[in-house]
Amino acid sequence: MIVLDEKNRVFTLHTCATTYQMKADSHQVLLHTYYGPRVGNGDLSYLIRHADRGFSPNPSEAGRDRTYSLDTLPQEYATCGVGDFRIPSLEVEPADGSLLSDLRYRGVRRVPGKYALPGLPAFFGGDRWETLIVTLEDAASRVEVELLYGVLEDRDLITRAARITNRGDQTVYLHRADSLCLDFCQGEMDFITFDGCHVMERCMNRTRLRAGIQSVGSVRGTSSHHHNPFVILCQREAGEDYGTCYGAALLYSGNFAISAERTQMENNRLTMGLHPYHFRYALAPGESFTTPEAAMVCSIQGFGQMSRQFHRAIRENLIRAPRAGERRPVLVNHWEATEFHFDADKLVEIAGAAAALGTELFVLDDGWFGKRDSDYSGLGDWQVNQQKLPGGLGALAERIQALGMQFGLWVEPEMVSEDSDLYRAHPDWALGVPGRSRTLGRSQLVLDFSRREVREHIYRDLQKVLDSAEITYIKWDMNRSLTDVWSAALPPERQGEVFHRYVLGLYEMLEWLHRDYPEILIEGCSGGGGRFDAGMLYYTPQIWCSDNTDAIDRLRIQYGTSFCYPVGTMGAHVSAVPNAQTGRIVPMETRGVVAMCGTFGYEMDLRKCTGTERKIAARQIRTYKARWRLIQEGDYYRLTDPFGDGPYTAWQHVSEDRREALVSVVMGAVHAAQPFLALRLKGLDPQRSYRINGSRERYPGDALMNAGYPLPMPMGDYQSLQLYLEAK
Ligand code: GLA
Repeated sequence: MIVLDEKNRVFTLHTCATTYQMKADSHQVLLHTYYGPRVGNGDLSYLIRHADRGFSPNPSEAGRDRTYSLDTLPQEYATCGVGDFRIPSLEVEPADGSLLSDLRYRGVRRVPGKYALPGLPAFFGGDRWETLIVTLEDAASRVEVELLYGVLEDRDLITRAARITNRGDQTVYLHRADSLCLDFCQGEMDFITFDGCHVMERCMNRTRLRAGIQSVGSVRGTSSHHHNPFVILCQREAGEDYGTCYGAALLYSGNFAISAERTQMENNRLTMGLHPYHFRYALAPGESFTTPEAAMVCSIQGFGQMSRQFHRAIRENLIRAPRAGERRPVLVNHWEATEFHFDADKLVEIAGAAAALGTELFVLDDGWFGKRDSDYSGLGDWQVNQQKLPGGLGALAERIQALGMQFGLWVEPEMVSEDSDLYRAHPDWALGVPGRSRTLGRSQLVLDFSRREVREHIYRDLQKVLDSAEITYIKWDMNRSLTDVWSAALPPERQGEVFHRYVLGLYEMLEWLHRDYPEILIEGCSGGGGRFDAGMLYYTPQIWCSDNTDAIDRLRIQYGTSFCYPVGTMGAHVSAVPNAQTGRIVPMETRGVVAMCGTFGYEMDLRKCTGTERKIAARQIRTYKARWRLIQEGDYYRLTDPFGDGPYTAWQHVSEDRREALVSVVMGAVHAAQPFLALRLKGLDPQRSYRINGSRERYPGDALMNAGYPLPMPMGDYQSLQLYLEAK
């Protein structure tokens, strides 16, 4: 609910459990007054302290009042160069070369439904939303800023974006345009980020906010394996089930910066938006620039509740999957089994062995096109390799379909190999600065997706491929970071736009796919989870979580990922042992338990499994098919932290009506004479009692949550168990 008190210029956004408020003060400055547990509509600006601090300057309108300083007041969208020395939200360079923005309030309006951000990913959902638009202006440069707020009340979700318009008569350059600025009046807080590297993404890091700026971000052109565009700020004592925390996600898949600044007043500012590195965006008179969307959830019951609110909102209001509400197919991908070394017969045999166990979709991975027998050549030539696949994709797809399976395909449309016909014909289509050598990554170059003719060419080739066979799934991969960022299509003064225009180009092409092939399920991928962000989820409802398929490492990767993203978005497959990345041998049952906490599938040659392993796989697939709704649409509870030193990792899915639950437990390395362990469950109905795995006995929900359920003694490393709970 949005409440406008226009007389006092106090604007309040309420969700079920939280309140967010701002106020335009007598100097037309838009102050942020409050964000936290739900309170009434009253003017909360009494919370703001005015103090005369040395070296905190005062705007001329404040006259002799030295307690009025932008340096100390909480701002809704921070000014630049006129007295606030913290991180600015906006940096604009008008024709005179200055870099000031002195934003003042001009007006407010409330709109039913959700604002739109053409060309950018955004939460949707029609009537369930309300929008607030607050207009600010920098009078001297005549730059107008519209702050857009979306409120999804029952999910405690508030989204934000800013639309910046040049109302003057000369071109201005944006150097910075953040999506979010959030000032807190309270003091001590922790900053939690999700960091890592290729094959070990989104590991949780929690640090105390110290004086100065702490930040994460990416200048790789993608959101990256290294830092995720999702962070949490929380009370120091906040934990999984208690304390106030603020989660913020940026719906963007390119360069980003997220910073937390602890100030002289010992309060904190969180900022989020495009990374200012090599960002300089020209706005001609009348033109607008729209920032990506940021989404915030405040929880007063710890991280668990915050995650569940994000999960529901992402599932219901961000993801656009074909046949929404239906189970996605259990897939088998041959990549780890064959890499580039396959022919049609081998693929059909792998598919056949998997089909016999109940998998439903075969994914043809890298190596099917051009001259692509290794990763040194072929990218960009999206024509079938007839030697490997005589008769083309149509013939292979028919053989796969004859097994009762659907057919899916891997592509990497943003890339080109130097050794490719495409590169030989159009060397300037790859990013690179004339006169400099180009930097390779996985021996490949990046196509300039900021150029429409490049996108159109690649899209036409893809269309030919997609029209040549019945394809129901695409894995859209992207296997290197951007370097040598320069576009032959833009003049020197506009090269600072290329990073962002690349991402907009990517989004546009994915939107063409949605328009022309609405029935195709798209899985995102960037060397695993190098572009696992809320922006991509708008186009690709699932993302390959990591190239690391080791089940024990996956516990950490999927745990970190779960803080923002629902399990149904996490590509997770059972793979062969010893694992290709770690050499570890984990029991087949455990590999299945871990992969089932994701989109579920197999990344191996099931022909090579023993009879017992095949039986286990068939049972896993049956279990998943029986429990998928509970797993994918139920509420997710983290029971333990795999980064801690506990003897096991556990999590739980609970149906909305709390009648069903699935508990998964993975033990660590075994030790003799382990102590008895009892696992305390969460989210059950305390009034109900539950059968466990079909037992006659019933266990009271309140006892299971408060006293726990005894775990069996493991024999052997990395054992696992699943408990299916059913209320009577
Ligand atoms: C990336 C992906 C893998 C696989 C290979 C193919 O690394 O993450 O799953 O598709 O590319 O080259």
